Amino acid sequence: MFVEVKNVEKHFGDFQALDDISFGVEQGELVALLGPSGSGKTTILRAIAGLDRQDAGDIVIDGRVVNDIPGSERGIGFVFQNYALFRYMTVAENIAFGLKVKKVPKADIDARVKELVELIGLSGKEDNYPNELSGGQRQRVAFARALAPNPQVLLLDEPFGAIDAKIRKELRSWLREIVTQLHITSLFVTHDQEEAFEVSDRVIIMSNGRIEQIGAPAEIYSKPATGFVACFAGNAPMVEDYGRFNGFEKERPGSAAVVRPECVEAFRKDNPEFADVLPFAQPCVLEDISFRGFYRELTLNVDGVRIYAHRGMGRRSQLDVGESMMCYIDRLYIVDDKSNEVEILENSLLQ
Ligand SMILES: Nc1ncnc2c1ncn2[C@@H]1O[C@H](COP(=O)(O)OP(=O)(O)O)[C@@H](O)[C@H]1O
Ligand SMILES: [Mg+2]
Repeated sequence: MFVEVKNVEKHFGDFQALDDISFGVEQGELVALLGPSGSGKTTILRAIAGLDRQDAGDIVIDGRVVNDIPGSERGIGFVFQNYALFRYMTVAENIAFGLKVKKVPKADIDARVKELVELIGLSGKEDNYPNELSGGQRQRVAFARALAPNPQVLLLDEPFGAIDAKIRKELRSWLREIVTQLHITSLFVTHDQEEAFEVSDRVIIMSNGRIEQIGAPAEIYSKPATGFVACFAGNAPMVEDYGRFNGFEKERPGSAAVVRPECVEAFRKDNPEFADVLPFAQPCVLEDISFRGFYRELTLNVDGVRIYAHRGMGRRSQLDVGESMMCYIDRLYIVDDKSNEVEILENSLLQ
């Protein structure tokens, strides 16, 4: 592993912000730290960057323990959500900033700036000021500025947080390409699970200063290790008496179920397409429809319990809020109260 975080702890007064954090990032890998606000993501980045020292544990970069090495000598580039560019400096001057501080010769700075401006696709805008650029372009300049001194490790703290949805999606794929192309070891913080899953090689899921699971996106998605991960990976509520759902009557004592929207089909009772699942479905009321761009999210009320379903935009029949429908649940993620372990339970139709 190129970057290693070993048994790191951090307290702020009585509050434990990081509890025995250990993970590694391989050379050239892009890893996402994903978790709700306050889970400790920024605190980890700051410890790696040497901005805040951990109370216990080690930070290792390229085989060297860097606990006592100042941040400026750790070979790290940092991109923050609100790492505003210097307003009175041009694109070129912003990118050159870190190199000037290091007293790199002017000819080398110019060559490096030219190379980076090309890399971020902003050739021709070298002499523009930040307020003449779009939000996405500004964030690209922030990347270039972080990359200029050739860091060995790139740390990104919610880099797209302040940018609107469409550009954010473009920047995501762009980041993925750049990291692949430069083969730079990168750790990327986000609270947006779609962003984390789409961009990264592996995801570290955090909650309350602890790591809940580390794995490839598909693995985390299909095999959530804890109840928290099962709920967090998707807008999924936890239902205690899941034995009420048709097809899941064999409820296990001391457990609850996470109902994921993509495992729920909502349909009208007379829809012949769903005739085969009808005996394993149950009545529900469509409480709300929210548009999520390329799909709709339906809020369903099943006998007082609220669950969600996804539905494409292309269906011919329009749905009305308040109408009675049927819903069929394909699988549940069963979380054991004591062990917090997760098991998948298929609808008895499938067994
Ligand atoms: N300098 C600080 N002083 C006191 N508490 C802090 C400080 N920095 C962070 N915290 C607390 O530590 C927890 C984790 O913070 P942070 O790492 O910023 O979370 P995240 O980046 O996941 O949103 C939060 O509860 C936050 O309030
Ligand atoms: Mg943060």
